[in-house]
Amino acid sequence: MESVTAIQEKPLPSESAQRKTKMEVYLDHNATTPLDPEVLEEMMPYLTSMYGNASSLYLLGRKSRAAITKAREQVAALIGAGEDEVFFTSGGTESCNQAIKGIAYLKETGHIVTSQIEHHAVMHTCQRLEREGFRVTYLPVDRQGRVNPEDVRAAIADSTILIAVMHGNNEIGTLQPVAEIGLIAKERNIPFFSDTVQSVGKVEVNVHKLNVDMLSLSAHKLHGPKGIGALYIRKGLEIRPLLEGGSQERKMRPGTENVASIVGLGKAADLARTHFDENREHMLRLRSRLMPMTETIPAFRLNGHLTETLPGTLNFCARFVDGLTLVMNLSMKGISISTGSACSSGSLSPSFVLKACGLGDEAAHSSVRLSLGRENTEEQMDYVMEEMVDAIEKLRLITAPEDIGACGENCPCFFE
Ligand SMILES: Cc1ncc(COP(=O)(O)O)c(C=O)c1O
Repeated sequence: MESVTAIQEKPLPSESAQRKTKMEVYLDHNATTPLDPEVLEEMMPYLTSMYGNASSLYLLGRKSRAAITKAREQVAALIGAGEDEVFFTSGGTESCNQAIKGIAYLKETGHIVTSQIEHHAVMHTCQRLEREGFRVTYLPVDRQGRVNPEDVRAAIADSTILIAVMHGNNEIGTLQPVAEIGLIAKERNIPFFSDTVQSVGKVEVNVHKLNVDMLSLSAHKLHGPKGIGALYIRKGLEIRPLLEGGSQERKMRPGTENVASIVGLGKAADLARTHFDENREHMLRLRSRLMPMTETIPAFRLNGHLTETLPGTLNFCARFVDGLTLVMNLSMKGISISTGSACSSGSLSPSFVLKACGLGDEAAHSSVRLSLGRENTEEQMDYVMEEMVDAIEKLRLITAPEDIGACGENCPCFFE
């Protein structure tokens, strides 16, 4: 007969089935990242005692000016640009608007080539220009979300004034063949802008290697503050400023400089550059830790490209699971992820990015995005995987047929 102590040492079935204690896991770094404490420390003096206007000639002003100069050098170093090619803006959205409208309003008329999966900062800007009389070609992407450079070449007309194709996609992580597209643009002498808001600091972004004439970046995707970003403009490229006012940012972006935020962006860029390899390896390790999900969960398919991708972005479709319900279920477990769906005018429309990749409405609604960050740990990934498998299993008890089917070459999520 078993002794009483032996029985007590055995966990009750309900206890052994119990999961680890709830963890808080933030996996929405493509939406925004937590501020790095080192960035905050660098910014603090400029939010308190060092309040001088950078245009003032006395010491307090000159200190602010020096801080801006240093930040400009730090951003330039991250992207391989000259300091005089970096212009501070209020963030990624303004940088995209400035780049595209800056060319369009200078030329006054013409044709723009872009893709169907750009961030709204680019897409809505192009749609606005279309309403103003410009012609825009929105290039399709393949199932992995890649633009074919030959499609860019074929779309170019004599009237083409700009090519705008993003680097890393915010929803699916797919990286576009930007360097190749840049070469085509160069051959035809057409300015080329790439929205690199998601890729800067995560994969190599060097303005010369990418053959870009303009690129956008944003501090809050880099563990810096919100509301500050930069636009790289290749020296010699003329564009029209959107704002009139003072002569700040060499008249490209007038307005008293947001010194503290600029300093924060500079520090964030510096940290991204100096810790680049280690951050990238960490991200790849975390990503591979989640990969067993693809085997464990039936009818589960990764969206986007397997190798040409941002290392920390994982977008997947779990058939017969509503993405929003999955997000809410995981939120109750302390896990923050997002859906690919954008809420527009009160109704949930399926992600236009996933639809452009060929997914049907149902599959797009069954997709979610995990975007990892440098503060995430392997332990967190194990917790997320366990909770994810559990949540999907439970939701499918209600929604899935007995024969759930499989994903593969002829995955029913796609429609031709
Ligand atoms: C690809 C891309 N471009 C532009 C932006 C806009 O940047 P910001 O939030 O700094 O305006 C974002 C933000 O999500 C983005 O992901």
